Amino acid sequence: MTKAMAQNHVDGVGAMYDLHTDLFAEVLGGSMHVGYWSGAEDARPLAAASAHMTGLVAERLALTPGQQVLDVGCGNGKPAVQVAADHGVHVTGITVSAYQVRLARERPYPADRPGQVSFQLADATKLPDDDASFDSAYAIESLLHMDDKDAALGQLARVLRPGARLVIADFCLDALVGERDAQLIAHMREIFRISAIPTMDDYSMRLRRAGFTVLDLTDVRENVRRTYDLVAQGFRQTVGQLDGELAAQLAGSATVIDQIGAVQPLGYLLITAVRQ
Ligand SMILES: C[S@@+](CC[C@H](N)C(=O)[O-])C[C@H]1O[C@@H](n2cnc3c(N)ncnc32)[C@H](O)[C@@H]1O
Repeated sequence: MTKAMAQNHVDGVGAMYDLHTDLFAEVLGGSMHVGYWSGAEDARPLAAASAHMTGLVAERLALTPGQQVLDVGCGNGKPAVQVAADHGVHVTGITVSAYQVRLARERPYPADRPGQVSFQLADATKLPDDDASFDSAYAIESLLHMDDKDAALGQLARVLRPGARLVIADFCLDALVGERDAQLIAHMREIFRISAIPTMDDYSMRLRRAGFTVLDLTDVRENVRRTYDLVAQGFRQTVGQLDGELAAQLAGSATVIDQIGAVQPLGYLLITAVRQ
């Protein structure tokens, strides 16, 4: 891939989020990632399940107050505010969407809580930050958009100090995928501008190669599965408020997401790694 093609991809992802961040956040309960349910008896609504997922990511970072934390692909800033306010840390969020930077900067921060947030437009594969300038980093469903995951992991290894934790929450794919499932996944990748989805082993290998030790890698696909159905429902409700091409696109997306919920080889990983 040429540099121009890589830049086009990043610009395309940014443009998608400039246009659709509000819609995605509305159907996903405020942030833009899956929810986490402890089991069948866990009846919390999607917004609470989504906050639960953010909380699990932060827990894995083992933060201490005052630390500098990087949120890679920060969306509208909701996870960053939650992490900063819950743990008294300074979270710097980066995103490739200028609209998201504006939204995140406008997001109110709870006055009675310690911690701080700041947001900037930046590409994770070309981070502007100094070497070893962060105590930890997390990436919730942002690596999925990156064609060059090795470049992003290399940049993260550079800006994290030795001993710093990196937590990734993202999709993975089993090595064996049937033809029908592969078609559905290809459709989902096209709709949401998702790059190739790695296997669990592939994540481990790439992290090690970038200079990380993998402490834990847990597949939580069953804990997040309810999200697909709820997002499809959300899209269908929104279709009624729109017209024209966007309504048709959204209805098509709802059908794909509905079916994605039944795609068994689509996994979801929580990974904790340490910068060597
Ligand atoms: C699915 S959203 C997740 C947002 C947020 N992490 C959350 O959980 O709500 C994906 C995010 O990754 C960001 N992203 C995608 N490619 C990126 C890149 N190369 N560098 C930085 N951010 C990127 C997008 O701009 C968007 O904010």
